[in-house]
Amino acid sequence: MPPKYIISTSILSADFTRLGEEIAACESAGADWLHVDVMDGHFVPNITMGPFIVQHCRRISKLPLDVHLMIEKPERYIEAFAKAGASGLTVHVETCPDLFSTLKQIKSSGCWAGVVLNPATPASAIEPFLGEADLVLVMSVNPGYSGQKFMPETISKVAEIRKQLDMLNSSAWLEVDGGIDHETLPLMKKAGATAFVAATAVFKHPGGAPAGIKVLRAAIATPAFG
Ligand code: DX5
Ligand code: ZN
Repeated sequence: MPPKYIISTSILSADFTRLGEEIAACESAGADWLHVDVMDGHFVPNITMGPFIVQHCRRISKLPLDVHLMIEKPERYIEAFAKAGASGLTVHVETCPDLFSTLKQIKSSGCWAGVVLNPATPASAIEPFLGEADLVLVMSVNPGYSGQKFMPETISKVAEIRKQLDMLNSSAWLEVDGGIDHETLPLMKKAGATAFVAATAVFKHPGGAPAGIKVLRAAIATPAFG
């Protein structure tokens, strides 16, 4: 049985001079997935990594690769990321004029199909597609960089999507990404999130990535206040 709650460690904040060691440390500390943030300098201002990095992550780790595509026209790259070894591909609703066919294309490539929305995009934008998604990702910062401050106004969107997924009897993961740490994670879990992306809270923990993962695991077990 898959775990009920997922910690997806975003390698964006890893030390890339020792990426292999960082990933191995996450794996042995019990990370569930590796989150790979792909940025194109168009949809978001930053430029990061492509299929080449995914291919190398695949070679050195058995963990599922949760690939977040912050790129325009993502349909052009689905095949390349699938071939490189991605396990799941998540596309922004803001970048997909024909989201149904993009999700279909992702599934036919053998990956799980995720859809993500920015903080300013309402839940209604993805409602028609929820039945097709294996994963729904709610951004809790504006995409582009790690280390940004959590936006609390996104909590109610998670709760709204949780309701819609439950109404559909969907077993899709409800993932959150941006400013997730030991304080914000329980709030998102209470709202109905089941998968938690974290870069800073893992890789910038003074005790290293294993200590960061331990803190998040404890936060998953902690009931939220309020
Ligand atoms: C932001 C990326 C995130 C980012 C999270 O655009 O999608 O995955 O790495 O970083 P933290 O956990 O530091 O907010
Ligand atoms: Zn991400």
